[in-house]
Amino acid sequence: MSGGIVKANKQSSNDYLSLTDSSSLRSTFLRNLEQSPRVLGSTGSRLLSGSTPDHSALETRFQDFFDAPSALLFNSGWDANVSFFSTVPQPGDWVIYDELVHASVHSGLRASRVDNKRRIPFRHNDPEGLREVLKQIDGKGTVFLSVESLYSMDGDFAPLPALLDVLDEYVTRDRQCVVVDEAHSTGVYGEQGRGITHALDEQGRMAVRLMTFGKAVGSSGGTSHILTLLMKAVLLCPLTIRSFLINFARPFIFSTAISHTSLIALHSAFDLLQSQEGDQVSQNVVNRADNVAPHRPVLTHQAIPRPSRSHRQTHSGSCPPISQYSLG
Ligand SMILES: Cc1ncc(COP(=O)(O)O)c(C=O)c1O
Repeated sequence: MSGGIVKANKQSSNDYLSLTDSSSLRSTFLRNLEQSPRVLGSTGSRLLSGSTPDHSALETRFQDFFDAPSALLFNSGWDANVSFFSTVPQPGDWVIYDELVHASVHSGLRASRVDNKRRIPFRHNDPEGLREVLKQIDGKGTVFLSVESLYSMDGDFAPLPALLDVLDEYVTRDRQCVVVDEAHSTGVYGEQGRGITHALDEQGRMAVRLMTFGKAVGSSGGTSHILTLLMKAVLLCPLTIRSFLINFARPFIFSTAISHTSLIALHSAFDLLQSQEGDQVSQNVVNRADNVAPHRPVLTHQAIPRPSRSHRQTHSGSCPPISQYSLG
């Protein structure tokens, strides 16, 4: 295969940063494996025997790195979305979602106790579409807004600031819970790959952020490298939501915890992302996206929709306290 074909393949695969081919990641990973007292397995579900100090250490690293109130690891982005949407929104709440959100959100909602009539899509990336939906809802219950920061099918950024402004017009902050899926921006956008909401300095405004590692971070996808065996994600959220998920989310409770091998792989990948090489590879992927579609240079850092100054000054986002949720 020519180099050009390989590049085109990478562009359309997961493994955006080609980390699965990185020799420095490979050697860091192998060295970390050698030095780690625990390497294989995890011995059980997080709720039983599967939570070790290594799991907590990686979650603390992500909590600090992504500037979040707490972090919870999942076996995949799919599991994280299904866990959240099937468990957290309660009867009487509203879930308003972009019509193009990922299938995992839909699967979570299908299992949720929120009435079908209270789960409403709005036109893709359209603040006026969101307005039309918000006009229909009553003044009771938490309003969950589910969006992605960057959509993969069309390669377009969400107009996050405009969507949040519309949400503010119709729903008071104490009833809002904004959930943003950063699957396609993790590791690529924002400082050292912290994502688009971090680049916008809006991480405090998003109650919940999903960062997945099966794409840019090389924990799965792409080539037949050892890291393709792994596939993980972290949900960044308030502590109450974290505890709630640990105790009620079925995909979390009834699944074996992430293995130590995966934890070591993720530490290694983030060691790289937080290095000069990491800056280079994420810049490369943005440049390459522009080369692939020069007539449509929508994926540059400058193209991310920015918030207005007034919007920035008023942010303070979090989900309503979990005590408001009825578990009946
Ligand atoms: C927007 C979005 N969310 C979640 C997921 C699921 O992530 P994972 O592949 O880690 O299960 C994907 C995967 O395609 C995705 O594109």
